[in-house]
Amino acid sequence: MKFTKSVSAVLSCVMALSLTGCGSSSAASSSSTAAADKASGKPVEVIIGTSPDYPPYESLDNEDMVGFDIDMGNWLFDYLNKNGYNYKVTWSQMSFDTIISAIQADQVDLGISGFTYDKDRKVLFSDPYFDSAEVVLVNKNSDITTKDDLKGKKIGAQLGTTGETCANDIEGAQVQAIEDMGVAMASLKANSLDAVIMDEPVAKQYAATGDYKILDEKLLEEENYVIAKEGNIELMDAVNKAIKAFNDSDDKEKMVEKWFANTDSSSTAEATAAATGDAQ
Ligand code: ARG
Repeated sequence: MKFTKSVSAVLSCVMALSLTGCGSSSAASSSSTAAADKASGKPVEVIIGTSPDYPPYESLDNEDMVGFDIDMGNWLFDYLNKNGYNYKVTWSQMSFDTIISAIQADQVDLGISGFTYDKDRKVLFSDPYFDSAEVVLVNKNSDITTKDDLKGKKIGAQLGTTGETCANDIEGAQVQAIEDMGVAMASLKANSLDAVIMDEPVAKQYAATGDYKILDEKLLEEENYVIAKEGNIELMDAVNKAIKAFNDSDDKEKMVEKWFANTDSSSTAEATAAATGDAQ
C-alpha cells in the first residue's frame, strides 16, 4: 500500500499510545484517533512481497504460499493487532530480484523472503529474526569438496541474491544467475551446474531430502531480516517491536521446529531440550 500522510499519522499515534500507555493524558487524543480507526473497520493495509521458491523459508503448496517466513510474518501482524495496531496483511508473490524495486516503488510495503544483509540494498533492514549463512550445495557424487575446487566450475545462484555476489567473488568461476531457485536446483540435479549457492537452511533442507551435500566452508555468515522502504520508520518500528516479541516467544521455537528441525540435527536437539525444559 501507499503510505499516505494520514496513515502514517494514525500509525505514529498508535505507536505513541503504546509507548506512553493508555491512561496518560498526552495520549488521550491519539487514543481516540486509534479507536476511531479501529471502529471504522479500516485497517492499514500491508502488502508483503515474497518469492516462494526457497523452502523452508517460503514455497508453494499447490497454490498456497507456505513456510517459516509466511508463518512468522502472519504472527508478527497478529501480535501487532493484539497490541493496539490495526493492520491487514496481504502476501504478494513475485520473483526475488523484483522485490526491492517493488518496495522502492511503493507496490509492496515489506519484503519477507529469506533476505540477508547487503550494503548495496537501499532499504531499511529490521532486527534479525534467524541465523543463516551462504553455503555451496553440490551433488552428492561431486568431486568438489572445497571452495578451491570451484575454480573454473559452473556455479549457479539466484538472480539478485547475496549468493550471486558470493559466486561472483569466486575466482575463475563461471557464474549463472538464475531467476527461479527451482530452475537452479533442476540444473544442478541435471549436472548442467556444478554447484549452487544459497542460504544454509535451504541447502540443509535439500541435503536432508535429496542427493546433495554442503561444502564445509561457508562463504558468508548472515542473518535474515524483514525489509521496508527507506524512511518507512513507522512500519519498521512496529515490525521490530513484533520481531522482539517473536524472538522471545515459544511460538518461534515451535515454528523453527516445524520448518527447520528436520534439516538440522543440532537445532532439533536444542528444540527438544527446550521443549523438555533442559535449555537454559
Ligand atoms: N538470502 C539471500 C538474499 O537475501 C537469498 C534469498 C532468496 N529468497 C528467496 N525467497 N528466493 O539475497
